Amino acid sequence: MKLKNKVALVTGGTSGIGLEAAKLFQKEGATVIVTGTTQSRLDEAARILGDSAIALKVDSRDPAQIDRAIVDIVESHGRIDIVFANAGAGQAAPLEAVTPEQIEAQFSLNFNGVFFTIQKAAPHLPKGGAIVVTTSFLNETGTPGLSILSATKAALRSLVRTAGAELAPRGIRINAVSPGPIATPFHTKLGLSDKELADAGAAIEAAVPLKRFGEAQEVARAALFLASEDASFVTGTEVVVDGGLTQL
Ligand SMILES: NC(=O)c1ccc[n+]([C@@H]2O[C@H](COP(=O)([O-])OP(=O)(O)OC[C@H]3O[C@@H](n4cnc5c(N)ncnc54)[C@H](OP(=O)(O)O)[C@@H]3O)[C@@H](O)[C@H]2O)c1
Repeated sequence: MKLKNKVALVTGGTSGIGLEAAKLFQKEGATVIVTGTTQSRLDEAARILGDSAIALKVDSRDPAQIDRAIVDIVESHGRIDIVFANAGAGQAAPLEAVTPEQIEAQFSLNFNGVFFTIQKAAPHLPKGGAIVVTTSFLNETGTPGLSILSATKAALRSLVRTAGAELAPRGIRINAVSPGPIATPFHTKLGLSDKELADAGAAIEAAVPLKRFGEAQEVARAALFLASEDASFVTGTEVVVDGGLTQL
């Protein structure tokens, strides 16, 4: 078991990549705490993960809620060993249609949410603690209609380097896992029509060298590597899980 007796916080752990990571971390011996905002998804995640896990309603856009959740976890579990800062969402719009509200919404969840999760959790991580951040293939590509989502992920890639430099003296590692297109509910929340979604899906499958969407479990396995002692000399980097999309 790679995470025996570890306490692992997975934000956005009620669906897709986060839920698969929570299941895998649990299988590897961790006590997992997942967060999300939708009660039905929290209930379903709690059912799937069972009594040893905790599902907390925490809006990652609100630093006060993150702070409260971290305090609660530390009070109940004594510490946090692993943080998978994964919660994220996007909204598609061409340059001319992007509004200040859309920029604020995407940065407050994807960047600020991850930043404050790291800021508030880091003081409680022991030496050997690990943080994993979900970035995206979008931080390497120019994808029409996804300027703001892509920028939030590029900002996270940068944060992993700076936070890595700040936390390394305490023996805490921080890395990113960068998914390519993964089959999760994420895409249905981008605000695209069914036809736009179908067209984009077909174009993505054609563009990915391995000719398919990835599975959430495939990203979860990379997150497990980065969270575990298998990656004990790995910090500040990004593991790309994208079927070759950005590399070939
Ligand atoms: N799927 C892909 O193709 C892909 C590609 C590259 C990167 N990613 C990244 O992978 C991460 C996970 O996405 P996914 O594909 O697994 O999507 P998903 O299935 O939609 O899962 C997103 C998770 O984030 C949670 N979440 C959303 N808003 C939140 C908020 N304000 N506070 C706390 N939690 C919130 C969701 O729960 P609630 O909605 O109930 O709050 C859910 O648990 C995201 O950061 C995404 O940008 C995905």
